[in-house]
Amino acid sequence: MRISVIGCGYLGAVHAATLAAMGHEVVGIDVDPGKVQHLAQGVAPFHEPGLDELLQDGHATGRLTFATNPEAARDAQVHFLCVGTPQDKTSDRADLTFLISALETLLPHLAAGAVVVGKSTVPVGTVDMLRGILAPRPDVLLGWNPEFLRQGTAVKDSLVPDRLVYGVEGGRPAAFNAATGAPLGVAAALDAVYEPLLAAGIPRLVCSFATAELIKSAANAYLATKISFINAVAGLCDAAGADVTELSEAMGLDPRIGSRYLHAGLGFGGGCLPKDIRSFSAQAATLGVPAVQDWMRLVDGVNLGQRERTVSLATELCGGSLAGRAITVLGASFKPDTDDIRDSPALDVADRLAAVGAHVTVTDPKAVNLAWRRYPRLRFEASIGKALQGAELVLLLTEWDEYRQLCPAVAGQQVRRRVVLDARNVLDAAAWQEEGWAVRGLGTPAGVLKAAAAAR
Ligand code: UDX
Repeated sequence: MRISVIGCGYLGAVHAATLAAMGHEVVGIDVDPGKVQHLAQGVAPFHEPGLDELLQDGHATGRLTFATNPEAARDAQVHFLCVGTPQDKTSDRADLTFLISALETLLPHLAAGAVVVGKSTVPVGTVDMLRGILAPRPDVLLGWNPEFLRQGTAVKDSLVPDRLVYGVEGGRPAAFNAATGAPLGVAAALDAVYEPLLAAGIPRLVCSFATAELIKSAANAYLATKISFINAVAGLCDAAGADVTELSEAMGLDPRIGSRYLHAGLGFGGGCLPKDIRSFSAQAATLGVPAVQDWMRLVDGVNLGQRERTVSLATELCGGSLAGRAITVLGASFKPDTDDIRDSPALDVADRLAAVGAHVTVTDPKAVNLAWRRYPRLRFEASIGKALQGAELVLLLTEWDEYRQLCPAVAGQQVRRRVVLDARNVLDAAAWQEEGWAVRGLGTPAGVLKAAAAAR
């Protein structure tokens, strides 16, 4: 099929490349000429494992092209809207400006009978609003196909998704021929797009627009809830002298609960979960469902509380004052395997430490070049060895493999004081203690804290 993908960020670039890998002829369109130039040369403008290879394959087959001019979309049968829906600057709501402008820009270039499908995360009711923009073109069909990919595993998540969701006008009953069961309209078009995935047995759910919009918001709200739940319990473990890592392992073995998103630590960040739970809360307020609004506020509050807790533990580990202390932060991206620093808990904590007078050096395998401009109070160092030199406290804030596998003996030779706050609870505390390190985690036993106190 001939397909256009509007918006080539973390979502659109991966979507365009995976559609080309499935055999379609794809044009990715973005307003940023720099991004388009990179993508056209088969180079991802951000770090995403496996994406460069996929872009190069698409380039080599000639099936994947990129452009800034929306006219390049004119021959496409299906157009995917993949632009960002960030948090509004003055409220908890999602800002739909980019989405609206993408559709308006596309409108004059839509061929007769084209299908427009949104993938961005949007508040419920958005598709109804977009239908108004498409009103002058009754021949064009609109669908919603939310995306669930995670940064860092986006290529795999797109090639082997857990499920496909199609939101269509009239919902499931309208999507299939009553007599034959054959898919119609948007459902038929999306079945053709995703034919290789459906053939591989990926489940596909067809529903109304409102349900499709809410499925994505509710899924992210649930993941955030799970993380904040275990982080709240980590506080309880700290107070009671229990170990949250053992507790979550035991809880996760119950298949009704599961171990994923049950890892206690510094909490969630990034361009999705934080803004999506706030948007979900704002939607609940508009729709008069205070339980969801209160719930999301609590989840958000617990999550942000983990950052405060990390700053206060760091202060405690520095003997009560951070002024003038040399602190090394391992990790700047919001999670490993991405260079995305949007709402990064690591950088937030690092900046707070610097705000009260600590001399903070941050290292990261991929994000240093993006982060240094935005955080003038922090010093950035690409080499982990150099970053550790002279540290009085080491904070592990993003659990890249490099940091999980760090040798405590080698690291010990570089620092001034062997004290580490493992805010992601990933280090082998015993191995580090054997090398004379005082180790502290979030929600791990108080005995470890005693060792840390002794090291001061
Ligand atoms: C998320 C959703 O997972 C994805 O389905 C959606 O499409 C976009 O939002 P992403 O933002 O890439 O994806 O991040 P994810 O891998 O879900 O992690 C989110 C945050 O939670 C990270 O900051 C991570 O460090 C944190 N996290 C995750 C925990 O603190 N504990 C956990 O157990 C799991």
